[in-house]
Amino acid sequence: MKKDYVDTSDFSKEELLDIAELGILIKRNLKAGFPLNVLYHKSLGMIFEQSSTRTRVSFETAMTQLGGHAQYLAPGQIQLGKHETYYDTAKVLSRLVDILMARVQKHESITNLAKYADIPVINGMSDYNHPTQEMGDLTTMLEHLPEGKRIEDCKVVFVGDATQVCASLMMIVTKMGGHFVHFGPKGFQLNEHFQKIAEENCKVSGGSFLVTDDEDEAIPGADFIYTDVWYGLYEAELSEEERKGIFYPKYQVDMEMMNKAGENAKFMHCLPATRGEEVTDEVMDSDRSIAFDEAENRLTSIRALLVYFMGKRDETIEICKRNLGE
Ligand code: CP
Repeated sequence: MKKDYVDTSDFSKEELLDIAELGILIKRNLKAGFPLNVLYHKSLGMIFEQSSTRTRVSFETAMTQLGGHAQYLAPGQIQLGKHETYYDTAKVLSRLVDILMARVQKHESITNLAKYADIPVINGMSDYNHPTQEMGDLTTMLEHLPEGKRIEDCKVVFVGDATQVCASLMMIVTKMGGHFVHFGPKGFQLNEHFQKIAEENCKVSGGSFLVTDDEDEAIPGADFIYTDVWYGLYEAELSEEERKGIFYPKYQVDMEMMNKAGENAKFMHCLPATRGEEVTDEVMDSDRSIAFDEAENRLTSIRALLVYFMGKRDETIEICKRNLGE
């Protein structure tokens, strides 16, 4: 078992599938009304250097549902950064809680926390990647696989800016052996570092990847069309107006793009969405959209990650299967 979840590259395809399936099993158990207190009296420390809805609420709800407790350690309310170093914070929190998660400005901060902490550390998003989003996205794709297809058979197209969510989607899809396309304008495409990771993953998994600004090459045959905001939480060199001029209208996911993908293509978004920019209301609110299932699956997969990193995987599977009569 790994100590931390900082980067998907640390995990094998089998391990990632195992955690996704664990999440689906726990969800079924809870939806059937069976309590699951496997993290009784365990405490999670949640460091947030940035705002969050889904990630924060999912971690806190997950701990409550599993019988534990979460503490929100807000910017400015703990000593980290001003009066205390990452090393000292990691050492102290290792004595006070059982597991840590952190959403950080710089990826180096999460790798330092993981290096110095004596307890598991989960990356709640950095400027490099968003691995808990990846797990939720894998779960969502597994639950919405096109009829007769495996994840390895799916074409997943990310439309727009090469955000950390785009990079993370590439990492999980190519790891699983699926076919990943980044459809984005030149200058905003996955960089050489990420393309190298995609290449390495595909060598092992048998998947494929493509980075292109050609819509006719990117979109047709897609099983999942995914997008993210055009200006994220991090400082950008260009103004919002300048970025909008680059992405609109070609990279807006509208019903014409969905139909070009195919009648069974599903729409995904990590959220929050800027409706009317990267996605139209028509797509967001259509039955093609699985964005809200995806949001719910942040909780699904985070429960599984907490159970896994607290060493409760086997016990949880046994309890859930017994409860469900399987
Ligand atoms: N997708 C996501 O991480 O949402 P939050 O920023 O609200 O946590």
